[in-house]
Amino acid sequence: MEKKVRNFHILVENNYDALSGAAARIITEQIASKSDSVIGLATGSTPIGAYAKLVNAHKTGTLDFSGITTFNLDEYYPINPDNDQSYAYFMREQLYKYVNINAANTNIPSGTAADPAAECATYEAKIAAFGGIDLQLLGLGLNGHIGFNEPADHFPAITHHVALDASTIAANSRFFANADDVPKHALTMGIGTIFQARHILLLISGAAKAKTAHHVLFGPIMPQVPGSALQLHPNVTVILDEAAATQISIL
Ligand code: GLP
Repeated sequence: MEKKVRNFHILVENNYDALSGAAARIITEQIASKSDSVIGLATGSTPIGAYAKLVNAHKTGTLDFSGITTFNLDEYYPINPDNDQSYAYFMREQLYKYVNINAANTNIPSGTAADPAAECATYEAKIAAFGGIDLQLLGLGLNGHIGFNEPADHFPAITHHVALDASTIAANSRFFANADDVPKHALTMGIGTIFQARHILLLISGAAKAKTAHHVLFGPIMPQVPGSALQLHPNVTVILDEAAATQISIL
């Protein structure tokens, strides 16, 4: 099912596999229409299926990553890129090592930067120097975060160093041996950084996200639910699976 609601182009797919296929098609179209696209990438479990489909499209077809540049949304801080829980490691394992992307064209905030504030400023400037992002992929945190923009009393504008919310540490502890191992900080694009993207692709999967999905799309715009800011962006495609869309009654 597909519907245009204000700035949102909303697609509801039957299941996670179909959601992943729809997301991969949009990313493929972006790369096909502009071979030197600047693509914003996301981590978390949600985009894993889309990455697998992109890898398959590359192996079996003509999808060519050689001209693109990528900027990831965020990285834990501090964390070593060889740590298997780092987002640098995630991107290598889920996508980069299987496609013809030039490693020099992949960007992710450094989890080992000695000066995190300087690293954030450099990252923000580099995105601007590339003319901004053509297509930004986003997942959604259970608490409504996008990137690592956590619930707060304001919308952070630019790439910044952030203390993770207790609920995010708890949610992400499933990937670590225990909750104490989850880094307590992160470096993340700000809401303003994300908003400079010309097209945003938000993926929401699973029943646990249904309430947050409804708030993000139709609730009050408030920094306590950071994803709700997306209601103000002019060009957002949202793909939900049926489990995540149960509270979206207008569909
Ligand atoms: C992480 C990432 C986000 C991601 C979110 C949801 O904390 N920083 O970019 O969207 O969690 O993760 P998942 O897709 O696993 O639910």
